[in-house]
Amino acid sequence: MISSVIKFVHENKIIEVENPDPNETLLNYIRTKLKKTGTKEGCAEGGCGACTVVLGELKNNKINYNAINSCIMFLPMLQGKQLILVEDLASKDGLLHPVQQAMVNYHGSQCGFCTPGFVMSLFSMFKNHSKFKDSIIKESISGNLCRCTGYQPIIKAAKSLKRKNKIDHFVKNKKNTINLLTKIKDENIVIYKKNKKYFAPKYVQELKKILKKNINSHFISGGTDLSLVVTKERKDINSLIYMNSISELNYIKNNNKYIEVGATTPLIDFESYIEKYYPDFTVILKRYGSVQIRNVATIAGNIATASPIGDTLPLLLSLDAKVVLKSIKKKKIIPLSDFFVNYRKTKLKKGQFIDSIRIPLFPKNIFKAYKVSKRFDDDISSVCASFNIEIINKKIKNIKVAYGGMASIPKRAKFCEKILLHSPITEKIINKAQESLEKDFKPISDMRASRQYRMQVAKNLLLKCFLEITEKKLIKINGQNG
Ligand SMILES: Cc1cc2nc3c(=O)[nH]c(=O)nc-3n(C[C@H](O)[C@H](O)[C@H](O)COP(=O)(O)OP(=O)(O)OC[C@H]3O[C@@H](n4cnc5c(N)ncnc54)[C@H](O)[C@@H]3O)c2cc1C
Ligand code: FES
Ligand code: FES
Repeated sequence: MISSVIKFVHENKIIEVENPDPNETLLNYIRTKLKKTGTKEGCAEGGCGACTVVLGELKNNKINYNAINSCIMFLPMLQGKQLILVEDLASKDGLLHPVQQAMVNYHGSQCGFCTPGFVMSLFSMFKNHSKFKDSIIKESISGNLCRCTGYQPIIKAAKSLKRKNKIDHFVKNKKNTINLLTKIKDENIVIYKKNKKYFAPKYVQELKKILKKNINSHFISGGTDLSLVVTKERKDINSLIYMNSISELNYIKNNNKYIEVGATTPLIDFESYIEKYYPDFTVILKRYGSVQIRNVATIAGNIATASPIGDTLPLLLSLDAKVVLKSIKKKKIIPLSDFFVNYRKTKLKKGQFIDSIRIPLFPKNIFKAYKVSKRFDDDISSVCASFNIEIINKKIKNIKVAYGGMASIPKRAKFCEKILLHSPITEKIINKAQESLEKDFKPISDMRASRQYRMQVAKNLLLKCFLEITEKKLIKINGQNG
């Protein structure tokens, strides 16, 4: 059914918003139209977590609870979801939610401004995990910044949760919520508002029809990059096609040769899947933005930005990934290494979209990846490096090395690869390969790092990779067996 009315579940009922502005942020709507001011605006760019709300989403007749940044989500993207705000956590009779009570008990509310965001991140953790281990707590609040006294009281509050009863009023109302979400799940949204358009197709076939008439539209998936055009650059985006409404493209398949990731698969799902094949990929993704970002952001979006500091890109380059592109009539598969043209420019043509990404499997290879950023969590890379190496008889049989943060696009280090290919792993060779990075890259200085720092880090990461490999394989760096 095509509709210009977006529908979502809030406070146990369906709320309808007729023909909303496609560029209005969810945060703005919550504060100014719903008049719920518990949700705060700090940075307006997804970086501080003050605006965190939780979305309940129906999947296989179950509700998934995802913390998201409402400052960088457009209101129409709320279609078909349950909106949970900090005001909704206490029960009707005024009893605080276990998460809120824990924050009170452990004095977790300090400045107060960032507190609703912390509470919502902890609420999502509470709903999604049964054990509240240190690592889970830290990951859950890694997208919430506390700039005053510190995280300890908040962490203590979170740890105390294991003693609490998990049956909250959301569990008690679950059946009703599932019924409401089921009623609104099939809406196909089309909005025309003054000079702005918004489409949320449900299937690829519908997407193609929309593209026929709206070839200049911008695709939006998680919106964690594109929305900043509105919230930071203060420009309008006149025509948007929401990709994440196409569940047909939300999948991960594996045919033992390659893993195929559908374009609308959120990073949070991919990060747990890929761990079995490439554990370092997961290590990098755990430091990719925050849980709020990874709950909605996609690899397709990361690739389409062609950002020199996009974190999945060097990893995918070293793994020889391919991009499956589709347009109204054609399908094309191209190597990712051919996809990036120039700074933030790709080979995507008008009317063409990323359908999926294919990541080859190299079961015999060693895959390593490193991210160096100023802050450990929720920060953009200064340098990101990735190595995919096959070693046979102590010689490098195959090698692919790729870096982010070292050039205007993420790039393979071809000179470096040439030196390492068919060579034994010796100190001399590694040193030579390190020096060759000077031929591969001419990094720039910016607010994240100086060019000298970037080059030094790139060389060090190469050395680190081989030190780790030789330690594991017991091959000494001077070429003798250990
Ligand atoms: C606070 C914060 C932290 C971040 N941290 C990191 C980080 O650590 N590492 C990192 O690499 N990035 C980071 N990012 C950037 C961003 O999250 C990523 O680039 C993300 O992968 C973008 O995916 P998305 O689905 O949100 O894309 P969107 O914002 O929806 O889209 C980005 C671009 O891709 C295009 N696009 C989207 N889907 C398709 C498709 N299927 N076909 C064709 N074009 C498409 C859009 O038109 C747009 O040009 C961060 C962003 C924020 C706000
Ligand atoms: S206001 Fe800072 S993350 Fe949204
Ligand atoms: S508790 Fe709000 S900034 Fe620290």
